[in-house]
Amino acid sequence: MSATPSPLSIAVLVSGTGRGSNLGALIDACAHGEIHGKIVLVIGTRRDAPALERADAAGVPVAVVSPRQYADDEEGYANALLRLLDRSQVDLICLAGYLRKLPAKVVTAYAGRILNIHPSLLPLFGGQGMYGLHVHQAVLESGMKVSGCTVHFVDEHYDTGPIVIQTPVPVLDNDTPETLAARILPEEHRAYVRAVQLFAAGRLRIDGRRVRILPETQAAQSADELEIAAYQEPTVSERRKP
Ligand code: GAR
Repeated sequence: MSATPSPLSIAVLVSGTGRGSNLGALIDACAHGEIHGKIVLVIGTRRDAPALERADAAGVPVAVVSPRQYADDEEGYANALLRLLDRSQVDLICLAGYLRKLPAKVVTAYAGRILNIHPSLLPLFGGQGMYGLHVHQAVLESGMKVSGCTVHFVDEHYDTGPIVIQTPVPVLDNDTPETLAARILPEEHRAYVRAVQLFAAGRLRIDGRRVRILPETQAAQSADELEIAAYQEPTVSERRKP
């Protein structure tokens, strides 16, 4: 008989002066039992980020790793992040307003166990420099009638990993970047909570570029199975293959 899996240990990464609304949604969903998990660590790049205040207020441990301290030393930055993540025995990393490229060493170490939220329907309007209002401005300039948000696994590039969930949101004739962002944000919170919920339940299986959502009955039962279920992309690392 298999025991109930222990709650997922989640680290959330934010950068700059992120406001932390997605972080807040994840903290609340864990607190209310919607996600079988716990935010064990929030890592920011600046101590004065509102996101870190939010974490403090919720009693979540925070750490600051300033990439500026590691200018031209990606390996040093990666090692600093890995020390913190490993020490907290993190099962899943959630990027929530983390606008830098995560060092490849971290991506490899946590392959299949890193999610990101992006405020457009990827692969449209992603890539370096595409964040926040820049994304919504570009959507409006393109004339698209629909935008939305995407939760995806993270690979070594910006915004290109396998897609877990997308939520479309209509673009209205009188939209500004701000009004479009405001309508998409609550959908981000819902989509991110759902994606993490599915990950925690062992129901995500990466199959090449696609992410299959397993029916509840086929969910992974143990932490080991859960890792394997979420990690099926052999090109990144052979380490966690079944
Ligand atoms: C969110 O809209 C998120 O999608 C976006 O940053 C915002 C963070 O808001 N991320 C990106 O654009 C990543 N390329 P939050 O701090 O309130 O969660």
